[in-house]
Amino acid sequence: MIPETDNAVEKIFSPKVSRTYELVNHLLTFGCDVLWRRKMTRLASRGGGTEWADLCTGTGETAAYLRRLAPEGTTVHAVDFSRAMMAEAMKKPEGKGIDFVVADVKALPFEDNSLDLITMSFATRNINLSREVLTKTFAEYHRVLKPGGRFFNLETSQPPNGWVRRLVHVFAKGLVKPIGAALSGARPAYAYLAHTIPRFYSADDLADILRDAGFEAVRFKRLLFGVAAIHESTKD
Ligand SMILES: C[S@@+](CC[C@H](N)C(=O)[O-])C[C@H]1O[C@@H](n2cnc3c(N)ncnc32)[C@H](O)[C@@H]1O
Repeated sequence: MIPETDNAVEKIFSPKVSRTYELVNHLLTFGCDVLWRRKMTRLASRGGGTEWADLCTGTGETAAYLRRLAPEGTTVHAVDFSRAMMAEAMKKPEGKGIDFVVADVKALPFEDNSLDLITMSFATRNINLSREVLTKTFAEYHRVLKPGGRFFNLETSQPPNGWVRRLVHVFAKGLVKPIGAALSGARPAYAYLAHTIPRFYSADDLADILRDAGFEAVRFKRLLFGVAAIHESTKD
């Protein structure tokens, strides 16, 4: 456990956001976030191992899917620095079988070479948009994975087709902010979301960042014309 940090992102994920977070997500993605999380956790769970972690777990939807898929004897850790978001995660039936850890993912409280699997969903944009910070953060994930361990990342992306990309950016700027703010009452949080979506990396650029952080065998699947992407990478 670490003390509460004074991080601006942590403040965004306040109780106001956490209570309505999943509903707003499902509405804004027309339910696609559920299908994408399931797809990522199905792929991720095939690799085996006994130490799994969902980082920036938030309200724990991805961690809960992992818990359901994990063979007996597997420990599923869920890490986040927002106590408000994790309080929602702990209410889930699967929460009883999850080890919740309050920590900043930039400095993980795990030993070197200790995890078989890391997953993360819809959080890369929140960690930071800077290439340097993301590379260092992913290098931290690389440190705690065992050789052969895998990191799966699900995040919004930049559709390769210019028309689809423009449509997504118009949607993010014109609808995400007002709809998210109206439903949650947390205007700054959804202004932040609308701000980061058009500025985030393409799937190819994110793959390069993962390679710079030391990951091998980096590959990705585009989802819904590239609106989102699942990246898979391995520690050699
Ligand atoms: C948009 S939510 C995503 C939550 C969840 N993974 C999901 O798929 O819905 C982003 C989460 O990342 C967490 N977060 C952002 N930066 C973090 C950091 N440096 N360390 C730990 N948690 C962080 C926030 O507190 C928030 O709960």
